[in-house]
Amino acid sequence: MPLVNMLDMLGHAHANRYAVGAFDLVSLDFLEGIMAAAEQTRAPVILSLAESHFEYYDFELVMAATVRAAKRATVPVAIHLDHGENLDSVVKGIRLGCNGVMVDASHHPFEENARITREVAETAHAAGVPVEGELGYVPGVEGEDAEKHPGEIRYTTPEEAARFVQATGVDFLAVSIGTVHGRMKGEPKLDFQRLAEINERLGIPLVIHGGTGLSDEQFRKLIENGVAKINYYTALSDAAARVITANVNKGVKGYTAQVAGVREAIAAECRRMIELWGSAGRADEVLATARAWHEVAHVIFYNVDGLNEEEAARLREEGRKVLSAIPGVLSVETGVAVQPDDPKYRYLWDVRFCHEKVIDLYRDHPDHVRYADERFRPVAGERITIDFKLDE
Ligand code: 13P
Repeated sequence: MPLVNMLDMLGHAHANRYAVGAFDLVSLDFLEGIMAAAEQTRAPVILSLAESHFEYYDFELVMAATVRAAKRATVPVAIHLDHGENLDSVVKGIRLGCNGVMVDASHHPFEENARITREVAETAHAAGVPVEGELGYVPGVEGEDAEKHPGEIRYTTPEEAARFVQATGVDFLAVSIGTVHGRMKGEPKLDFQRLAEINERLGIPLVIHGGTGLSDEQFRKLIENGVAKINYYTALSDAAARVITANVNKGVKGYTAQVAGVREAIAAECRRMIELWGSAGRADEVLATARAWHEVAHVIFYNVDGLNEEEAARLREEGRKVLSAIPGVLSVETGVAVQPDDPKYRYLWDVRFCHEKVIDLYRDHPDHVRYADERFRPVAGERITIDFKLDE
């Protein structure tokens, strides 16, 4: 159950003046290290997967492990698509199990950023998924993520931030007040006055990208001024690399020996941040107040009239293709009864939705309406349909 609604998770952090770590993961070692730290400190945590890192791993495969890790956790977890490039990325992220999404159109001028972000927010919200947008520009300095964010910093203005949130309906806003992605060159100057004004005007959880390299005092002031989610990656990557370098320098041979200790180093760095940001020990409060994230099974048992087995199989195959592309659909499973003679119904649809809201979105979606009206209903008069909210 510990997948929870990110809106409630960050609402709790914002109201209680602490920040949840959104740790970007690029491998199973990162996933295990982050989760170990969250469990050890009893902290809510965000497992973050950045599209800017997708060249390093297979998003679909890593998501399967990430969803499993979240579901078996005893602390509250949200799974977030970080720096999603466009609507297609967001729909894919939701399909694979993200229950929070960011679209990063911050490199575009205001109006274009607002247009893209609004479109994403409308789709994600219709599927029950909260959305983060970014206004202003957080550039990169040095490091894997940094190179994906070229150019100069552009600060977020309070006035534009208010207009942006109003125009797009985002739930969380990433702001640019002086942080950078990647390794810092010296101590960055952060504009806390600007942050305080943005927080005052918006009243929604704010997000900081480029958490690596800030001082304890800077983190404290960020959180005091409305930051409820801190994105953190480069320091984890560097901690992992230091372990590998030390192993290699010791003359250790072989993959498993050279990466030994990476998980623990990532966990130690996450623990340090979790304690600093005040999310340690908050797990039970969040579990008690945040809505659990329940998937829905939309199940249909049916018989077909006038189709042979081959035609019935084609009908299912066509449906799997069309219906699985609808936003908020996690999977479309179909099947045939194992005992052929006895059952009341011979065929099955088992369509999984990421959230209860998808019931309406799916029913009215033009692709579903077309398939149902033209292909399915004319031959499947005999059927029973039930939506189940899943326990886990
Ligand atoms: P750092 O790599 O600077 O910690 O930033 C991470 C980030 O903002 C990912 O969105």
